[in-house]
Amino acid sequence: MNGALPKGRQLFQKIRGDFIGLNTQYRVVSGETSTRVYLDSTATTLMMKVAHDVMEDFYKHYANTHSVLHFGAKISTKEYAWAHRRILAFMKADPEVYTCFFTGSGTTAGMNRLARVLRDIRPDKNVAVVSIMEHHSNDLPHRKHMKEVDHIPLNSRDGKLGCVCLESLEKTLQKKEGRVNYVAMTGVSNVTGIVNPINEAAEVAHRYGALFIVDGAQLAAHVPVTMSVPDNPEQNIDALVFSGHKTYVPGSPGAVIVRKDLMEQIEPEEVGGGMVEDVFVDRYVVKEAFPDREEAGTPNIPGAVGLAAAVDVLDRISMELLRDEETQLINSALDQLMKIEDVVIYGETDTELCDRVASISFNITGLDHGLVAAALNDYFNVAVRNDCFCAHPYVKEMIMDDLLDYVELVDMEDIEQVYQLKRGMVRASFALYSTEEDVAALILAVKDIASRKDYYQSQYGVDSGENYVHKSFCFDHTQMFSVEDSISVLVS
Ligand code: ALA
Repeated sequence: MNGALPKGRQLFQKIRGDFIGLNTQYRVVSGETSTRVYLDSTATTLMMKVAHDVMEDFYKHYANTHSVLHFGAKISTKEYAWAHRRILAFMKADPEVYTCFFTGSGTTAGMNRLARVLRDIRPDKNVAVVSIMEHHSNDLPHRKHMKEVDHIPLNSRDGKLGCVCLESLEKTLQKKEGRVNYVAMTGVSNVTGIVNPINEAAEVAHRYGALFIVDGAQLAAHVPVTMSVPDNPEQNIDALVFSGHKTYVPGSPGAVIVRKDLMEQIEPEEVGGGMVEDVFVDRYVVKEAFPDREEAGTPNIPGAVGLAAAVDVLDRISMELLRDEETQLINSALDQLMKIEDVVIYGETDTELCDRVASISFNITGLDHGLVAAALNDYFNVAVRNDCFCAHPYVKEMIMDDLLDYVELVDMEDIEQVYQLKRGMVRASFALYSTEEDVAALILAVKDIASRKDYYQSQYGVDSGENYVHKSFCFDHTQMFSVEDSISVLVS
Protein backbone atom coordinates (compact mmCIF):
# COMPACT_ATOMS: atom_id res chain seq x y z
CA MET A 1 0.00 0.00 0.00
CA ASN A 2 2.90 2.31 0.82
CA GLY A 3 4.05 1.90 -2.79
CA ALA A 4 1.22 4.23 -3.86
CA LEU A 5 2.43 7.03 -1.59
CA PRO A 6 4.92 9.69 -2.68
CA LYS A 7 8.46 8.98 -1.49
CA GLY A 8 8.54 11.76 1.14
CA ARG A 9 5.32 10.55 2.75
CA GLN A 10 6.55 6.97 2.75
CA LEU A 11 9.69 8.07 4.55
CA PHE A 12 7.66 10.20 7.00
CA GLN A 13 5.51 7.20 7.90
CA LYS A 14 8.55 5.00 8.29
CA ILE A 15 10.53 7.47 10.37
CA ARG A 16 7.93 8.96 12.70
CA GLY A 17 7.76 5.92 14.97
CA ASP A 18 11.52 5.52 14.97
CA PHE A 19 12.65 7.91 17.71
CA ILE A 20 14.48 6.79 20.83
CA GLY A 21 12.33 7.25 23.91
CA LEU A 22 8.92 7.16 22.23
CA ASN A 23 8.12 3.82 23.83
CA THR A 24 9.53 4.47 27.29
CA GLN A 25 7.19 3.32 30.03
CA TYR A 26 6.63 4.67 33.52
CA ARG A 27 4.38 3.66 36.41
CA VAL A 28 1.71 6.21 37.28
CA VAL A 29 -0.39 6.94 40.40
CA SER A 30 -2.88 4.14 39.70
CA GLY A 31 -0.01 1.64 39.88
CA GLU A 32 -0.31 0.83 36.20
CA THR A 33 2.59 1.14 33.84
CA SER A 34 1.98 2.91 30.56
CA THR A 35 3.90 4.36 27.61
CA ARG A 36 4.66 8.01 28.12
CA VAL A 37 3.09 10.65 25.91
CA TYR A 38 5.98 12.98 25.17
CA LEU A 39 4.64 16.50 24.67
CA ASP A 40 7.76 18.44 25.60
CA SER A 41 9.48 18.63 22.23
CA THR A 42 9.86 22.41 22.36
CA ALA A 43 12.18 22.00 25.34
CA THR A 44 14.08 19.23 23.63
CA THR A 45 13.21 16.78 20.89
CA LEU A 46 13.67 13.04 21.13
CA MET A 47 16.51 11.47 19.20
CA MET A 48 15.98 10.39 15.62
CA LYS A 49 17.09 6.75 15.45
CA VAL A 50 18.57 7.17 11.95
CA ALA A 51 20.80 10.02 13.17
CA HIS A 52 21.76 7.92 16.20
CA ASP A 53 22.69 4.98 13.97
CA VAL A 54 24.67 7.21 11.62
CA MET A 55 26.60 8.54 14.63
CA GLU A 56 27.26 5.01 15.84
CA ASP A 57 28.65 4.05 12.41
CA PHE A 58 30.70 7.23 12.39
CA TYR A 59 32.24 6.49 15.81
CA LYS A 60 34.11 3.56 14.24
CA HIS A 61 36.07 6.09 12.21
CA TYR A 62 35.93 9.01 14.63
CA ALA A 63 39.13 10.99 14.87
CA ASN A 64 40.13 14.62 15.27
CA THR A 65 39.58 16.81 12.23
CA HIS A 66 42.83 18.59 13.09
CA SER A 67 44.73 15.39 12.32
CA VAL A 68 45.32 14.92 8.63
CA LEU A 69 46.96 11.85 7.22
CA HIS A 70 45.48 8.77 8.85
CA PHE A 71 42.36 7.10 7.51
CA GLY A 72 40.05 8.00 10.40
CA ALA A 73 41.14 11.64 10.24
CA LYS A 74 40.45 11.75 6.51
CA ILE A 75 36.95 10.33 6.98
CA SER A 76 36.18 12.60 9.93
CA THR A 77 37.43 15.70 8.10
CA LYS A 78 35.41 14.95 4.97
CA GLU A 79 32.19 14.15 6.83
CA TYR A 80 32.54 17.15 9.15
CA ALA A 81 32.92 19.37 6.08
CA TRP A 82 29.85 17.68 4.57
CA ALA A 83 27.89 18.51 7.76
CA HIS A 84 28.51 22.25 7.22
CA ARG A 85 27.47 22.07 3.57
CA ARG A 86 24.40 20.02 4.43
CA ILE A 87 23.18 22.56 6.95
CA LEU A 88 23.68 25.44 4.53
CA ALA A 89 21.59 23.53 1.99
CA PHE A 90 18.91 22.79 4.61
CA MET A 91 18.60 26.52 5.33
CA LYS A 92 18.69 27.36 1.62
CA ALA A 93 21.71 29.58 2.25
CA ASP A 94 23.94 30.22 -0.77
CA PRO A 95 27.33 28.66 0.11
CA GLU A 96 29.11 31.39 -1.83
CA VAL A 97 27.64 33.99 0.54
CA TYR A 98 27.17 32.19 3.87
CA THR A 99 29.24 30.06 6.19
CA CYS A 100 27.99 27.62 8.81
CA PHE A 101 29.86 27.01 12.04
CA PHE A 102 29.05 25.10 15.21
CA THR A 103 29.15 26.51 18.71
CA GLY A 104 27.80 25.64 22.14
CA SER A 105 24.91 23.24 22.53
CA GLY A 106 21.95 25.46 21.74
CA THR A 107 21.10 28.86 20.35
CA THR A 108 22.54 30.90 23.24
CA ALA A 109 26.25 30.65 22.38
CA GLY A 110 25.60 31.53 18.73
CA MET A 111 23.46 34.55 19.62
CA ASN A 112 26.05 35.88 22.06
CA ARG A 113 28.72 35.49 19.38
CA LEU A 114 26.67 37.30 16.75
CA ALA A 115 25.81 40.13 19.14
CA ARG A 116 29.50 40.70 19.93
CA VAL A 117 30.57 40.55 16.29
CA LEU A 118 27.85 42.89 15.03
CA ARG A 119 28.56 45.35 17.84
CA ASP A 120 32.24 45.38 16.90
CA ILE A 121 31.87 45.66 13.12
CA ARG A 122 29.23 48.41 13.25
CA PRO A 123 30.14 50.45 16.35
CA ASP A 124 28.24 53.53 15.17
CA LYS A 125 24.99 51.54 15.24
CA ASN A 126 24.37 50.72 18.90
CA VAL A 127 20.69 49.75 18.98
CA ALA A 128 19.29 46.22 18.64
CA VAL A 129 15.62 45.59 18.02
CA VAL A 130 13.93 42.39 19.20
CA SER A 131 10.30 41.43 19.65
CA ILE A 132 8.44 41.07 22.93
CA MET A 133 7.98 37.33 22.25
CA GLU A 134 11.69 36.43 22.38
CA HIS A 135 13.25 33.64 24.37
CA HIS A 136 15.88 35.08 26.75
CA SER A 137 18.60 33.66 24.48
CA ASN A 138 17.52 36.13 21.81
CA ASP A 139 17.10 39.06 24.16
CA LEU A 140 19.72 39.08 26.91
CA PRO A 141 22.80 38.73 24.64
CA HIS A 142 21.66 41.90 22.86
CA ARG A 143 20.99 43.70 26.14
CA LYS A 144 24.46 42.76 27.34
CA HIS A 145 26.39 43.61 24.19
CA MET A 146 24.45 46.51 22.66
CA LYS A 147 23.82 49.94 24.16
CA GLU A 148 20.05 49.81 23.76
CA VAL A 149 17.46 47.16 22.98
CA ASP A 150 13.95 47.99 21.80
CA HIS A 151 11.12 45.46 22.10
CA ILE A 152 8.60 45.45 19.25
CA PRO A 153 4.97 44.69 20.15
CA LEU A 154 2.81 42.03 18.54
CA ASN A 155 -0.33 42.15 16.46
CA SER A 156 -3.41 41.79 18.58
CA ARG A 157 -6.99 40.71 17.85
CA ASP A 158 -9.59 40.77 20.62
CA GLY A 159 -6.77 40.72 23.16
CA LYS A 160 -5.13 37.66 21.58
CA LEU A 161 -1.52 38.32 20.66
CA GLY A 162 -0.34 37.18 17.24
CA CYS A 163 2.93 37.51 15.36
CA VAL A 164 5.33 40.48 15.37
CA CYS A 165 3.72 43.74 14.20
CA LEU A 166 5.66 44.79 11.11
CA GLU A 167 4.21 48.33 11.20
CA SER A 168 5.62 48.81 14.71
CA LEU A 169 8.94 47.41 13.54
CA GLU A 170 9.02 49.92 10.70
CA LYS A 171 8.08 52.81 13.00
CA THR A 172 10.85 51.90 15.44
CA LEU A 173 13.41 51.71 12.65
CA GLN A 174 12.28 55.12 11.40
CA LYS A 175 12.44 56.60 14.90
CA LYS A 176 15.96 55.32 15.55
CA GLU A 177 17.19 56.94 12.33
CA GLY A 178 19.92 54.60 11.13
CA ARG A 179 21.12 53.71 14.65
CA VAL A 180 19.74 50.17 14.53
CA ASN A 181 22.52 47.66 14.04
CA TYR A 182 20.25 44.64 13.65
CA VAL A 183 16.80 43.26 14.22
CA ALA A 184 16.83 39.86 15.98
CA MET A 185 13.60 37.92 15.78
CA THR A 186 12.46 34.43 16.59
CA GLY A 187 11.10 32.40 13.68
CA VAL A 188 8.66 30.59 15.96
CA SER A 189 7.69 31.41 19.54
CA ASN A 190 8.73 28.76 22.05
CA VAL A 191 5.64 29.65 24.10
CA THR A 192 2.75 29.84 21.65
CA GLY A 193 4.26 28.29 18.52
CA ILE A 194 3.28 31.42 16.58
CA VAL A 195 5.27 31.73 13.34
CA ASN A 196 6.75 35.12 12.43
CA PRO A 197 7.04 36.33 8.81
CA ILE A 198 10.84 36.45 8.93
CA ASN A 199 11.53 37.15 5.25
CA GLU A 200 9.06 40.06 5.20
CA ALA A 201 10.53 41.40 8.44
CA ALA A 202 14.02 41.14 6.91
CA GLU A 203 12.87 43.31 4.02
CA VAL A 204 11.63 45.96 6.47
CA ALA A 205 14.91 45.87 8.43
CA HIS A 206 17.04 46.14 5.29
CA ARG A 207 15.03 49.16 4.09
CA TYR A 208 16.47 51.04 7.09
CA GLY A 209 20.03 49.72 6.88
CA ALA A 210 19.59 47.22 9.74
CA LEU A 211 20.77 43.62 9.53
CA PHE A 212 18.29 40.84 10.22
CA ILE A 213 19.11 37.82 12.37
CA VAL A 214 16.85 34.94 13.28
CA ASP A 215 16.52 32.76 16.35
CA GLY A 216 15.78 29.50 14.57
CA ALA A 217 15.63 27.29 17.68
CA GLN A 218 11.95 26.47 17.19
CA LEU A 219 11.98 26.99 13.44
CA ALA A 220 14.50 24.49 12.15
CA ALA A 221 12.64 21.27 12.92
CA HIS A 222 9.19 22.60 12.03
CA VAL A 223 9.13 25.12 9.17
CA PRO A 224 10.98 25.32 5.81
CA VAL A 225 13.52 28.16 5.87
CA THR A 226 14.90 30.18 2.95
CA MET A 227 17.86 32.36 3.91
CA SER A 228 18.84 33.29 0.32
CA VAL A 229 15.83 34.54 -1.63
CA PRO A 230 17.10 34.72 -5.24
CA ASP A 231 14.25 36.79 -6.67
CA ASN A 232 14.16 39.25 -3.75
CA PRO A 233 17.54 39.52 -1.96
CA GLU A 234 16.12 42.24 0.32
CA GLN A 235 14.34 39.36 2.06
CA ASN A 236 17.56 37.45 2.72
CA ILE A 237 18.27 36.52 6.32
CA ASP A 238 21.74 37.80 7.32
CA ALA A 239 22.28 35.26 10.09
CA LEU A 240 20.36 32.45 11.74
CA VAL A 241 21.14 30.34 14.80
CA PHE A 242 19.53 27.06 15.73
CA SER A 243 19.88 24.23 18.25
CA GLY A 244 20.82 20.66 17.50
CA HIS A 245 19.06 19.38 20.58
CA LYS A 246 15.76 20.80 19.30
CA THR A 247 16.33 19.24 15.89
CA TYR A 248 16.23 15.58 16.88
CA VAL A 249 19.89 15.15 17.91
CA PRO A 250 20.56 15.61 21.63
CA GLY A 251 24.29 15.98 22.17
CA SER A 252 24.77 17.92 18.95
CA PRO A 253 26.01 21.51 18.81
CA GLY A 254 24.24 24.77 18.06
CA ALA A 255 24.66 25.97 14.48
CA VAL A 256 25.25 29.50 13.18
CA ILE A 257 24.64 30.34 9.52
CA VAL A 258 25.90 33.81 8.74
CA ARG A 259 27.10 35.98 5.88
CA LYS A 260 30.83 35.50 5.47
CA ASP A 261 31.42 39.17 4.62
CA LEU A 262 30.19 40.14 8.10
CA MET A 263 32.41 37.72 9.99
CA GLU A 264 35.57 38.48 8.02
CA GLN A 265 35.55 42.15 9.00
CA ILE A 266 37.15 41.40 12.37
CA GLU A 267 39.36 38.80 13.91
CA PRO A 268 37.30 35.81 15.08
CA GLU A 269 35.81 36.25 18.55
CA GLU A 270 37.26 32.96 19.77
CA VAL A 271 40.88 32.01 19.36
CA GLY A 272 42.84 28.81 19.87
CA GLY A 273 43.86 25.74 17.91
CA GLY A 274 42.53 25.07 14.43
CA MET A 275 41.73 28.67 13.48
CA VAL A 276 45.27 29.87 12.83
CA GLU A 277 47.67 29.44 9.91
CA ASP A 278 50.72 30.07 12.05
CA VAL A 279 51.66 31.20 15.54
CA PHE A 280 54.86 32.98 16.63
CA VAL A 281 55.66 34.16 20.13
CA ASP A 282 54.80 37.72 19.22
CA ARG A 283 51.91 37.25 16.77
CA TYR A 284 49.59 34.80 15.07
CA VAL A 285 48.02 34.59 11.63
CA VAL A 286 44.33 33.74 11.49
CA LYS A 287 43.07 31.40 8.77
CA GLU A 288 41.06 33.06 6.05
CA ALA A 289 39.03 29.97 5.24
CA PHE A 290 35.54 29.49 6.62
CA PRO A 291 34.38 27.78 8.76
CA ASP A 292 37.81 26.94 10.24
CA ARG A 293 38.50 30.51 11.40
CA GLU A 294 35.28 30.52 13.46
CA GLU A 295 35.81 27.14 15.13
CA ALA A 296 38.62 27.39 17.65
CA GLY A 297 39.42 24.11 19.40
CA THR A 298 38.33 20.59 18.59
CA PRO A 299 34.66 20.81 17.64
CA ASN A 300 31.80 18.47 18.50
CA ILE A 301 32.40 16.43 15.34
CA PRO A 302 30.02 13.48 15.91
CA GLY A 303 27.27 15.84 17.09
CA ALA A 304 27.59 17.93 13.94
CA VAL A 305 27.55 14.82 11.74
CA GLY A 306 24.45 13.52 13.56
CA LEU A 307 22.70 16.87 13.22
CA ALA A 308 23.47 17.06 9.51
CA ALA A 309 22.17 13.49 9.11
CA ALA A 310 18.91 14.49 10.83
CA VAL A 311 18.33 17.54 8.63
CA ASP A 312 19.15 15.43 5.58
CA VAL A 313 16.33 13.08 6.60
CA LEU A 314 13.98 16.06 7.15
CA ASP A 315 14.76 17.32 3.64
CA ARG A 316 14.25 13.85 2.16
CA ILE A 317 10.78 13.81 3.74
CA SER A 318 10.22 17.50 2.80
CA MET A 319 9.87 20.33 5.30
CA GLU A 320 6.69 21.46 3.54
CA LEU A 321 5.08 18.09 4.20
CA LEU A 322 6.22 18.13 7.83
CA ARG A 323 4.85 21.60 8.34
CA ASP A 324 1.46 20.63 6.87
CA GLU A 325 1.28 17.56 9.08
CA GLU A 326 2.10 19.59 12.16
CA THR A 327 -0.40 22.32 11.30
CA GLN A 328 -3.14 19.69 11.14
CA LEU A 329 -2.13 18.28 14.49
CA ILE A 330 -1.95 21.73 16.11
CA ASN A 331 -5.37 22.67 14.71
CA SER A 332 -6.86 19.50 16.07
CA ALA A 333 -5.32 20.05 19.52
CA LEU A 334 -6.41 23.71 19.58
CA ASP A 335 -9.99 22.89 18.52
CA GLN A 336 -10.35 20.27 21.22
CA LEU A 337 -8.64 22.24 23.97
CA MET A 338 -10.75 25.33 23.27
CA LYS A 339 -13.90 23.30 23.89
CA ILE A 340 -12.87 22.34 27.42
CA GLU A 341 -14.47 24.54 30.03
CA ASP A 342 -12.03 26.73 31.98
CA VAL A 343 -9.12 26.19 29.61
CA VAL A 344 -7.45 29.46 28.59
CA ILE A 345 -5.18 29.23 25.55
CA TYR A 346 -2.57 31.95 25.06
CA GLY A 347 -1.92 33.73 21.79
CA GLU A 348 -3.97 33.95 18.60
CA THR A 349 -5.76 30.64 18.08
CA ASP A 350 -7.05 31.20 14.55
CA THR A 351 -4.34 29.52 12.50
CA GLU A 352 -5.81 30.93 9.30
CA LEU A 353 -4.84 34.37 10.63
CA CYS A 354 -1.68 33.41 12.39
CA ASP A 355 0.41 30.31 11.69
CA ARG A 356 1.38 28.10 14.58
CA VAL A 357 3.59 25.06 14.93
CA ALA A 358 5.02 23.01 17.77
CA SER A 359 3.65 24.63 20.95
CA ILE A 360 0.37 25.38 22.69
CA SER A 361 0.45 27.07 26.10
CA PHE A 362 -2.59 27.15 28.33
CA ASN A 363 -3.89 27.32 31.87
CA ILE A 364 -6.88 25.81 33.63
CA THR A 365 -8.63 28.60 35.51
CA GLY A 366 -8.33 28.12 39.26
CA LEU A 367 -5.42 25.68 39.11
CA ASP A 368 -1.74 26.47 39.29
CA HIS A 369 0.21 25.57 36.16
CA GLY A 370 2.60 23.52 38.30
CA LEU A 371 -0.23 21.43 39.68
CA VAL A 372 -1.65 20.78 36.21
CA ALA A 373 1.74 19.76 34.81
CA ALA A 374 2.36 17.46 37.80
CA ALA A 375 -1.08 15.83 37.50
CA LEU A 376 -0.67 15.36 33.73
CA ASN A 377 2.54 13.51 34.43
CA ASP A 378 1.69 11.55 37.57
CA TYR A 379 -1.83 10.42 36.61
CA PHE A 380 -1.73 10.33 32.81
CA ASN A 381 1.94 9.91 31.86
CA VAL A 382 1.71 13.04 29.70
CA ALA A 383 5.04 14.93 29.78
CA VAL A 384 4.67 18.71 29.42
CA ARG A 385 6.64 21.72 30.61
CA ASN A 386 5.26 24.52 32.77
CA ASP A 387 6.36 27.94 34.05
CA CYS A 388 7.59 30.85 31.91
CA PHE A 389 9.75 28.96 29.39
CA CYS A 390 12.64 31.49 29.49
CA ALA A 391 10.38 34.07 27.85
CA HIS A 392 9.32 36.15 30.86
CA PRO A 393 8.28 39.40 29.12
CA TYR A 394 6.01 37.55 26.66
CA VAL A 395 4.43 35.28 29.27
CA LYS A 396 3.93 38.28 31.54
CA GLU A 397 2.22 40.25 28.77
CA MET A 398 -0.25 37.44 28.07
CA ILE A 399 -0.96 36.58 31.71
CA MET A 400 -1.44 40.25 32.64
CA ASP A 401 -3.89 40.65 29.74
CA ASP A 402 -5.74 37.67 31.05
CA LEU A 403 -5.77 39.01 34.61
CA LEU A 404 -7.04 42.40 33.46
CA ASP A 405 -9.88 40.65 31.61
CA TYR A 406 -10.92 38.20 34.27
CA VAL A 407 -9.90 39.49 37.69
CA GLU A 408 -11.81 42.22 39.46
CA LEU A 409 -8.71 44.24 40.25
CA VAL A 410 -8.11 47.81 39.37
CA ASP A 411 -5.01 48.62 41.31
CA MET A 412 -1.84 47.86 39.31
CA GLU A 413 0.03 46.79 42.45
CA ASP A 414 -2.65 44.18 43.24
CA ILE A 415 -2.51 42.93 39.68
CA GLU A 416 1.29 42.65 39.89
CA GLN A 417 0.90 40.66 43.12
CA VAL A 418 -1.62 38.26 41.60
CA TYR A 419 0.66 37.95 38.59
CA GLN A 420 3.62 36.97 40.79
CA LEU A 421 1.48 34.21 42.29
CA LYS A 422 0.05 32.96 39.04
CA ARG A 423 2.81 33.56 36.55
CA GLY A 424 3.36 30.61 34.31
CA MET A 425 1.54 28.35 31.92
CA VAL A 426 1.37 24.72 30.88
CA ARG A 427 2.89 23.98 27.50
CA ALA A 428 2.12 20.98 25.31
CA SER A 429 4.52 20.73 22.41
CA PHE A 430 4.71 18.54 19.37
CA ALA A 431 7.19 17.28 16.80
CA LEU A 432 7.21 15.02 13.77
CA TYR A 433 6.67 11.89 15.89
CA SER A 434 3.57 13.34 17.62
CA THR A 435 0.25 11.78 16.65
CA GLU A 436 -3.52 12.24 17.01
CA GLU A 437 -3.32 9.60 19.75
CA ASP A 438 -1.01 11.90 21.71
CA VAL A 439 -3.48 14.76 21.28
CA ALA A 440 -6.33 12.48 22.42
CA ALA A 441 -4.37 11.51 25.54
CA LEU A 442 -3.76 15.19 26.35
CA ILE A 443 -7.40 16.14 25.85
CA LEU A 444 -8.68 13.27 27.98
CA ALA A 445 -6.31 14.24 30.78
CA VAL A 446 -7.00 17.99 30.65
CA LYS A 447 -10.77 17.34 30.66
CA ASP A 448 -10.46 15.18 33.73
CA ILE A 449 -8.26 17.65 35.62
CA ALA A 450 -10.48 20.62 34.68
CA SER A 451 -13.60 18.82 35.84
CA ARG A 452 -12.18 17.56 39.16
CA LYS A 453 -10.10 20.48 40.36
CA ASP A 454 -10.76 19.97 44.08
CA TYR A 455 -9.75 16.34 43.89
CA TYR A 456 -6.43 17.04 42.18
CA GLN A 457 -5.72 19.94 44.48
CA SER A 458 -6.27 17.71 47.51
CA GLN A 459 -3.70 15.21 46.24
CA TYR A 460 -0.73 17.57 46.16
CA GLY A 461 1.48 19.55 48.50
CA VAL A 462 4.26 21.97 47.61
CA ASP A 463 7.86 21.16 48.56
CA SER A 464 10.61 23.57 49.63
CA GLY A 465 11.57 24.09 45.97
CA GLU A 466 7.96 25.20 45.29
CA ASN A 467 7.28 22.09 43.21
CA TYR A 468 4.01 20.20 43.41
CA VAL A 469 4.53 16.81 45.01
CA HIS A 470 1.93 14.07 45.21
CA LYS A 471 0.99 13.20 48.79
CA SER A 472 1.18 9.42 48.42
CA PHE A 473 2.71 8.57 45.04
CA CYS A 474 6.48 8.51 44.92
CA PHE A 475 8.61 8.22 41.80
CA ASP A 476 11.99 6.68 42.46
CA HIS A 477 14.03 7.55 39.38
CA THR A 478 16.84 5.15 40.25
CA GLN A 479 14.47 2.23 39.66
CA MET A 480 14.19 3.36 36.05
CA PHE A 481 17.72 4.48 35.31
CA SER A 482 20.95 5.45 36.96
CA VAL A 483 24.30 5.93 35.28
CA GLU A 484 26.13 4.03 38.01
CA ASP A 485 23.77 1.05 37.75
CA SER A 486 24.13 1.04 33.99
CA ILE A 487 27.90 1.01 34.31
CA SER A 488 27.72 -1.81 36.85
CA VAL A 489 25.63 -3.94 34.50
CA LEU A 490 27.90 -3.19 31.56
CA VAL A 491 31.18 -3.94 33.31
CA SER A 492 30.16 -6.87 35.49
N1 ALA B 1 14.09 27.04 25.98
C1 ALA B 1 13.54 25.76 26.06
C2 ALA B 1 12.05 25.79 26.21
O1 ALA B 1 11.41 26.63 25.68
C3 ALA B 1 14.22 24.93 27.06
O2 ALA B 1 11.51 24.96 26.86
